[in-house]
Amino acid sequence: MTSYDAKGHYQQEEIASGYDAERFRGARGAFVDWLERRLLDQSMEGLRPGCRVLDLPVGTGRMARYLESKGHQVVGSDISLAMMQVAGELSGGRAVLVRGDGETLPFADNSFDVAVCFRLLVHLPEEARLNVLREMSRVARTRIIAVYQPHRMALWWLFYGLLLRRQLPRYFVPPNKLPTEFSNAGLRIVRSHTLLRGVFMERAYVLEPAGG
Ligand SMILES: C[S@@+](CC[C@H](N)C(=O)[O-])C[C@H]1O[C@@H](n2cnc3c(N)ncnc32)[C@H](O)[C@@H]1O
Repeated sequence: MTSYDAKGHYQQEEIASGYDAERFRGARGAFVDWLERRLLDQSMEGLRPGCRVLDLPVGTGRMARYLESKGHQVVGSDISLAMMQVAGELSGGRAVLVRGDGETLPFADNSFDVAVCFRLLVHLPEEARLNVLREMSRVARTRIIAVYQPHRMALWWLFYGLLLRRQLPRYFVPPNKLPTEFSNAGLRIVRSHTLLRGVFMERAYVLEPAGG
């Protein structure tokens, strides 16, 4: 297991309680939230309702609730009890939540059909990213959906980060290095989707076991 800022940061109650309001309220926040749901829809294409989905990290549960509204059976996992408490409250106590570290997930092999990972990998150094990818690949049988911020737009992102005074370090992976990163985790790229080309460069990679 590795140590990095995002592991501790979201365990603070005041960060967890302000998380949704800080990011997803207001016109811009609601638009980004809508774009991320669209990204998830595009990445889930081809799968029928009723999939067993792991949402890692579940955070305050917005993707888990969305996946459930589409008829999937979702388990949310996160290292932060504070974030999961918000997720539990927002789901009216219905969410299935299991505390865990994405680098050593507390699930048996092939427990899920799909594992989705939004807004985590950009905060992780390479070793931790590989651990998380390998764990998602171990627990999910069919498909891994992993969101990255490829670094082609590094200067733009630097400007963006300074402007918004981002609190956590970000790790930008050159897009041409990603196939090797995925292959080191036993995965291969099936396709990818960009959040909003030329504006928001986050990209969801749809991955499957390299031998599959
Ligand atoms: C930016 S939030 C993203 C939450 C959610 N996926 C979303 O899109 O809103 C990052 C989350 O990653 C969690 N996290 C950080 N390191 C983790 C780890 N090693 N294992 C599981 N969760 C982790 C944090 O607790 C936090 O809830």
